[in-house]
Amino acid sequence: MASWLLFSVFSFVLLLPEPAAGITRHYTLDIKMHTVTRLCHTKSLVSVNGKFPGPKIIAREGDQLLIKVVNHVPNNISLHWHGIRQLRSGWADGPAYITQCPIQTGQSYLYNYTVVGQRGTLWYHAHISWLRATVYGPLIILPKHGVPYPFPKPHKEVPMVFGEWFNADTEAIIRQATLTGGGPNVSDAYTINGLPGPLYNCSAKDTFRLRVKPGKTYLLRIINAALNDELFFSIANHTVTVVEADAVYVKPFETNTILIAPGQTTNVLLKTKPSYPSASFFMTARPYATGQGTFDNTTVAGILEYEQPKHAKTNIKNLPLFTPVLPALNDTNFATKFSNKLRSLNSEKFPANVPQKVDRKFFFTVGLGTNPCNHKNNQTCQGPTNTTMFAASISNISFTLPTKALLQSHYSGRSDGVYSPNFPWNPIVPFNYTGTPPNNTMVSTGTNLMVLRYNTSVELVMQDTSILGAESHPLHLHGFNFFVVGQGFGNFDPNKDPKKFNLVDPIERNTVGVPSGGWAAIRFLADNPGVWFMHCHLEVHTSWGLRMAWLVLDGDKPDQKLLPPPADLPKC
Ligand code: C2O
Repeated sequence: MASWLLFSVFSFVLLLPEPAAGITRHYTLDIKMHTVTRLCHTKSLVSVNGKFPGPKIIAREGDQLLIKVVNHVPNNISLHWHGIRQLRSGWADGPAYITQCPIQTGQSYLYNYTVVGQRGTLWYHAHISWLRATVYGPLIILPKHGVPYPFPKPHKEVPMVFGEWFNADTEAIIRQATLTGGGPNVSDAYTINGLPGPLYNCSAKDTFRLRVKPGKTYLLRIINAALNDELFFSIANHTVTVVEADAVYVKPFETNTILIAPGQTTNVLLKTKPSYPSASFFMTARPYATGQGTFDNTTVAGILEYEQPKHAKTNIKNLPLFTPVLPALNDTNFATKFSNKLRSLNSEKFPANVPQKVDRKFFFTVGLGTNPCNHKNNQTCQGPTNTTMFAASISNISFTLPTKALLQSHYSGRSDGVYSPNFPWNPIVPFNYTGTPPNNTMVSTGTNLMVLRYNTSVELVMQDTSILGAESHPLHLHGFNFFVVGQGFGNFDPNKDPKKFNLVDPIERNTVGVPSGGWAAIRFLADNPGVWFMHCHLEVHTSWGLRMAWLVLDGDKPDQKLLPPPADLPKC
């Protein structure tokens, strides 16, 4: 009887003609202090539920998420669901002073959103100051029930989150840098799932081990949550097949090494050796760095271990351990080749809906700059010179965070004095962006928004500048995925370059590495009303002002309007 019942329940599920509508999932994330030791340094850090990294959040496409975030720490907090489209639910997006005021000590906020038309690996992180250094975790969206992956079903799925470990308090580091105008101290280690691995002193016991069986396929859900570094990643003596980036399926391709910028996610299939290899394999990551500043040039290692056959005689610790060869730290050639391989799957079920016609074209520069030293009493600064402080900008505007949330100001019609709706279409003072930098490298400051009508089809070229050194900038746009229709080096040529745009199967993502000394062209449809932050995902550059926001107005129809704010929206 019982088994018959079970059988009929199963067949009922199997016979469902359409995937069922989503469910509501409830999570509570307690932001609290937690003591962690790495590299023989113990510190108290801001964590989610006393876990470092934070716990995994799982949903299915179509589900509604109700995530209660409770702040038990002295710091203000705010969480962002990186890559979630937040259709009409901008109040739940999370960047502090953009879509909400921070959650203050002792307060809570219920993030309420539905996952629409997305499945894959995303992540969440704090979106205020540098707290995302320790407040982050995977956000995994499975396909709807009964909908398969467009690749063979993996034996197991494993999140691998790259992070950066600082022995010192990261809030103190950025506070200090802001005061002196200098570059902030770099990290002491990179981590995989919070563990630096055996290549660092006093760290061997904190090593991420991936135990596998021979002859199986594993789906690695790779997330770069590092603060300030793009990373190369490779597994010794294995190749992986890239199948997804930023929660969008891609045309599968094989590679020894992947490149992943902060903010990006990459799903790869790892096929293990057909039989027990009598060896273990390092999985290592280290930076891809193109700027002139100092950076943490160390290597994190995890170990890929094969389950031993029953009668194996050697202790697993005594097996030979192979090491992968990673590209050089500044291997832009590899970076270019890798990003050229990334193409949307563009299948019947997962089409690439690239905007074919464009309503508005924008050209923004992205790069570094300077501010005058603001110290009184002739004290000197530690910027590029002792009379200047480091800054960064988009189109030479270094974006100042307001003291009220932009979305609230817009919604309530009280934008005066909070923001200016006049972000420039083109740089106000054009120059040879990738040539010899201009003598005057000072930025202007402001809280300027680019206003778009609902459903505007946008083309945006982001041009790196050589001011204080060309550098690859991972630009992240909230609220949308975009298509990377073109990329190149030197100055963008509006006459020649658009002819080479890929409007068929360009990669669709939420964070793109603007090539060092080059440009990236993206297209997106502004079909999501709200205020959407766009910034470099190198946290140091965001802090210096490499950020701006788009304001997408409501459409005419009722389902084209921003939803009203929730009652518990934090106040400033
Ligand atoms: Cu992952 Cu605005 O950030």
